[in-house]
Amino acid sequence: MDEAEFFAADGLSKHFGGIIAVDGLSISLSRGELVGLIGPNGSGKTTTINMVAGALRPDEGTIRLRGVTMTGSPAHVFARGGVARTFQVPRLFRRMTVLENLIVPALSNPAARRAEAERRAGEVLSFLRLEHLTRSLARALSGGQQKLLELGRALMLRPSLLLLDEPFAGVHPQLLAQIMEHIGSLNAGGHTIIVVDHNIDAIRSLVRRTVVMAQGRKIADGPSEDVLRDPAVIRAYTGARDAH
Ligand SMILES: Nc1ncnc2c1ncn2[C@@H]1O[C@H](COP(=O)(O)OP(=O)(O)O)[C@@H](O)[C@H]1O
Ligand SMILES: [Mg+2]
Repeated sequence: MDEAEFFAADGLSKHFGGIIAVDGLSISLSRGELVGLIGPNGSGKTTTINMVAGALRPDEGTIRLRGVTMTGSPAHVFARGGVARTFQVPRLFRRMTVLENLIVPALSNPAARRAEAERRAGEVLSFLRLEHLTRSLARALSGGQQKLLELGRALMLRPSLLLLDEPFAGVHPQLLAQIMEHIGSLNAGGHTIIVVDHNIDAIRSLVRRTVVMAQGRKIADGPSEDVLRDPAVIRAYTGARDAH
């Protein structure tokens, strides 16, 4: 297999009524890459993640994973293909325990046995250093711990492509460092990762390659240090801030 072909989205577009959320976006990743996806509010980052995760069907464009065309397949086919994502606002079962939050989605796969799901949950909790909260209710967790649990849920099925939608938003600086460390070690362990975020400093120190979106389009893609000082990127950010 051509390594450059691990993941490729080509010409993705998505409209919501009259709004063009994503407009002809192409992005490809080689296996094991860790890429930042940034852009002002409303620039189409979450819509992109939704399409790449198979949760939203693009109006135009194609998505290939390991050379296999995935476009139009249901989300569970993307999941089975090794794609997992986290949500900007954690989607936890608030009245369930941390452990239950991990095993319930895993059990939706009929082949999964509960014992195996619990064993995997143990590994995930140990990796995330959340074992002491195994029996706590999700709603009792801090915002940052909820973000960690959200990441844990994505890790349950051992994904090869991990899509993280604003994993640092609203997280205490101490936990932010921990989440960054987890992302780094997941990547070192072979996961291909797209991290969407607003926190430019976090992105700068975490990823070598950054993709920038503005108004649904890709306006920059390259080494983070070059992209983050690109005048067009700075303009997109300051323009968006001035508009608020
Ligand atoms: N389900 C939806 N229905 C209508 N408009 C949407 C929907 N999802 C996103 N949008 C719009 O699409 C644009 C891009 O949104 P989004 O992808 O959430 O941007 P970002 O994640 O970069 O902030 C915004 O204008 C947003 O209001
Ligand atoms: Mg978003």
